[in-house]
Amino acid sequence: MSIKIPAGLTDLLQSFTVEVLRKQPADLVEFAVQYFSKLQASQKLPFGNEKSGSGAFRATKAVNFADEPMQTDSENGGEDDEDEEFEAPVINRFSRRVSVCAEAFNPDEEEEDTEPRVVHPKTDEQRRRLQDACQDILLFKNLDQEQMFQLLDAMFEMHVKIDEHVIDQGDDGDNFYVIERGKYDIFVKLDGLQRCVGAYDNRGSFGELALMYNTPRAATIIATSNGALWGLDRATFRRIILKNNARKRRLYEEFVKSLPLLKSLELGERMKVVDVFGTKTYKDEEQIIAQGEKADCFYIVESGEVRITMKHKAKPDANGGVEIARCSRGQYFGELALVANQPRAASAYAVGIVKCLVMDVQAFERLLGPCMDIMKRNIANYEEQLVDLFGTNMDLSDSAV
Ligand code: CMP
Ligand code: CMP
Repeated sequence: MSIKIPAGLTDLLQSFTVEVLRKQPADLVEFAVQYFSKLQASQKLPFGNEKSGSGAFRATKAVNFADEPMQTDSENGGEDDEDEEFEAPVINRFSRRVSVCAEAFNPDEEEEDTEPRVVHPKTDEQRRRLQDACQDILLFKNLDQEQMFQLLDAMFEMHVKIDEHVIDQGDDGDNFYVIERGKYDIFVKLDGLQRCVGAYDNRGSFGELALMYNTPRAATIIATSNGALWGLDRATFRRIILKNNARKRRLYEEFVKSLPLLKSLELGERMKVVDVFGTKTYKDEEQIIAQGEKADCFYIVESGEVRITMKHKAKPDANGGVEIARCSRGQYFGELALVANQPRAASAYAVGIVKCLVMDVQAFERLLGPCMDIMKRNIANYEEQLVDLFGTNMDLSDSAV
């Protein structure tokens, strides 16, 4: 006799089991009652899974998202504020939101978080690729292990075709994206004109702004090659990243207020700087920047000291380069290559243990435009520094080795 397994049963039980393992509830039955009651409530929402036809837990269906056909907004139903109360454990990446107002989440509240988790099952090989792609994502840098596990569980793989619009400016934000591979252009519409303001080349992430600030998408992202992305749904992003950002703001508010570089920014703009940076810690003598390499980050020293060294045509024998500067708490480095769109002009090494705030080039360009005057004045000083160290009439291009 063959027994038919109802559609969705496996995923339903899997999601429930994951929650039990995570939460380790003392009273399993009580936990189950709460879990399934919430789930049932979510299914009764006007646009909920009642429409799905199967009657069986469609929103939790584990699918191969790379192959799943596009689901339209109308299939997915309308918007209802209550959908923020409960998110079914696995959601479809194509269930794009219609509106993003009135979200219930308050990152400052330290209340116990009982939301069931979004889980997209993955093979070991997928998980390895995902971990590699997420390794350098600055927004993930300050998360604890449990938060990181939840993010990785919730992320889903997407294959992207050349010319595909991953994001369109003006849309509501549904997902955050981490690049596994592929190239993507960034377009921003200014005065009715689309301008390409940058590009991602096989690394990085995008799509955080609309989710963090409840705003329409600020740019259009178009694939210029076939590629692969890892998506993270809005609810999980907000639950974890917003909470972490609130903590970062508390920790770094005084520090960023004290930075001379940021003095032309309003407080709100400084807080946006805090939102997007990640912190990185370096061991004594560890290389932070390598002269001649392509640049994609900007650094502010939070603690410790950084030694800047340069190999220069005028001193070819100086092994490892000549020390040209030191940066300590509150000072920045790594701006020159981003401003000049050139390879790194010098190397940077940790002296003792060093902690830096790190910002990617896209955030640097978007947020630090008003600080450019200060940076340019300092860059003008670099030339003098080099003249003092290496002789007369040296310019930065002489540093290329
Ligand atoms: P979001 O507004 O959610 O969607 C578009 C994304 O493009 C945005 O988040 C950023 O992650 C990314 N982006 C990169 N460069 C820019 C830029 N100059 N202005 C706005 N968004 C940008
Ligand atoms: P960047 O070229 O991106 O990476 C190396 C960094 O060293 C550079 O940016 C500057 O921030 C910093 N630096 C400090 N002094 C100098 C100097 N005299 N010339 C060039 N870079 C310098």
